Amino acid sequence: MCGIVGYIGKSQAAPILLDGLSKLEYRGYDSAGIAVRNGEEEPVVVKAKGRLKILSEKTNEGNAVLGSCGIGHTRWATHGEPSENNAHPHCSDDMNVVGVHNGIIENYQELKDKLIRHGYTFYSQTDTEVAIKLIDYYYKKYQVGPIDAIAKTMVRVRGSYALAVMFKDYPGEIYAARKDSPMVIGVADGNTYMGSDVPAILKYTKDIYYIGNLEMARLSAGEVTFFNLDGDEVQKEVTEIKWDADAAEKGGFEHFMIKEIHEQPKVVKDTINSVVKENDGKLELDLSATGITEEDLSEVENIVITACGSAYHVGVVAQYVIEDWTRIPVRVEVASEFRYRKPILSEKTLVVIISQSGETADSLAALREAKARGCKTLGIVNVVGSSIAREADYVFQTLAGPEIAVATTKAYSTQLIAIYAFAIALGKAKGMLDEEKVKELLTEMRTLPDKISKLIDEKDRIQWFSSKFSNAKDVFYIGRGIDYAICLEGSLKLKEVSYIHSEAYAAGELKHGTISLIEDGTLVVGVLTQSALFEKTISNMVEVKSRGAYLCGVTSYGNYSIEDTADFTIFIPKTDEHFATSLAVIPLQLIGYYISVSKGLDVDKPRNLAKSVTVE
Ligand code: AGP
Repeated sequence: MCGIVGYIGKSQAAPILLDGLSKLEYRGYDSAGIAVRNGEEEPVVVKAKGRLKILSEKTNEGNAVLGSCGIGHTRWATHGEPSENNAHPHCSDDMNVVGVHNGIIENYQELKDKLIRHGYTFYSQTDTEVAIKLIDYYYKKYQVGPIDAIAKTMVRVRGSYALAVMFKDYPGEIYAARKDSPMVIGVADGNTYMGSDVPAILKYTKDIYYIGNLEMARLSAGEVTFFNLDGDEVQKEVTEIKWDADAAEKGGFEHFMIKEIHEQPKVVKDTINSVVKENDGKLELDLSATGITEEDLSEVENIVITACGSAYHVGVVAQYVIEDWTRIPVRVEVASEFRYRKPILSEKTLVVIISQSGETADSLAALREAKARGCKTLGIVNVVGSSIAREADYVFQTLAGPEIAVATTKAYSTQLIAIYAFAIALGKAKGMLDEEKVKELLTEMRTLPDKISKLIDEKDRIQWFSSKFSNAKDVFYIGRGIDYAICLEGSLKLKEVSYIHSEAYAAGELKHGTISLIEDGTLVVGVLTQSALFEKTISNMVEVKSRGAYLCGVTSYGNYSIEDTADFTIFIPKTDEHFATSLAVIPLQLIGYYISVSKGLDVDKPRNLAKSVTVE
């Protein structure tokens, strides 16, 4: 959701804040703002509706705003339309408190009424203005200082938040607080940086502090002190981030999405190498870094996978793969449903939470629900130190590096690897996969990066094909089994970046309703990587073709008979069919990307979306 940055130190703050915000624009981009203090002077607040570049132009790249202490925000609207008035920072009427916020204050109306009774007035429709004025109220009422005022506010508000606040009486300081919304802090060479995601400050330092849930921090130049809700100091360890700062730059590509598509061979390889080790010429699967042991695995009786969006689609693939290799029942559930559904769980249920950001509110809540119900939890997470990574019992760290494009590609691909590795380990622990089979699967898994590379090399052909469908109204993706799971992701990739309506359908289900939407020229993409289901899906493709559909087929080399049916075919290299998603998804990502490009859309920042959804 919204992005937050803060800086206090030796340099001019505004250019640093704008630079940090540019790394966080994927978190929200309907308006942006900064507040900067120059010594004892009142903060200067500048806001702009629209993309960050408007704010940048308004402040002459930040050079027009003097001062070395400031906070900034890029917004994804929750309460109140995108407008300059609703943009952050928000201030108390006398500029005593100025702050930015990420999250939602659920009881903001009740708090607003209380503040109005105490003489406060409101200029915006945001819940943030209420939070800032509540801090101001407690600050003036109790007169015990910023930490006390923020703590009292934290106790009073319901919801999730990351807050960065400046007080008129404390010119050299910024205060931060969080609950269920991320916030990281870095200190380097007399400067202190704050960001709601690591990429915002990665350029300046790789040594990061994470503010814990329901904790606060006081930042001054080159220093940071942490506090718990009682106002007591808390000691923190520094975490070293291994990500390369260049990984958060476009590096010559036109968009982050295409750059991240190209990074897939490398990040898939890195993730495979983190768990598949060669010992005396023998391949071994080593999940020790996750904390899960063979004994833990052997005790698992059933698995629930819960996640959102593309991560949920990885869960759907996992259901097929894990059940096939282990014969253990797997249920996959959208995280926002799981938490309210009273799921049937036992101590023998392993709950797997998949999340790139590790901060998705619904996924985090599902994790907490599972733990509260006595289940062991495995987080498959990309962002080190994220809430899910810290709270799960076992953690599989995917090595996708920073993913900036809103539409996930490389994180999805590394999550698949985590699932394959986990499924193989489970199959082995359960005695369902023997040594020979494990070796065969690990050997094949190691061939995936090169095969992904070959598919990316065919991008020009896919670009040509995609450009013909920039005016499409509806696109359908059909497949059976794992191919259906692949379709779910292909369809999401297309609709989120190209704004073309699209649906993924189990191929056999199409004729139970959706087939009525097929018109002359409607693009239907059939995915056929599972040999046992090939002919069945071909029949379903023929059914839509006879109703006018234009057919694109995605299948493995060797299945050349598809060319009798499909109008356009994309062949993927042969692999074990359980791994087919890793290959078939590549052309589908490229189709989404190139259709969006041909429509002239902002691929990396699709309308209404945000990368990390930290509200319910
Ligand atoms: C997919 O392209 C989207 N960005 C979205 O569906 C995403 O996968 C979902 O919001 C989950 O995010 P997470 O992996 O960070 O939890």
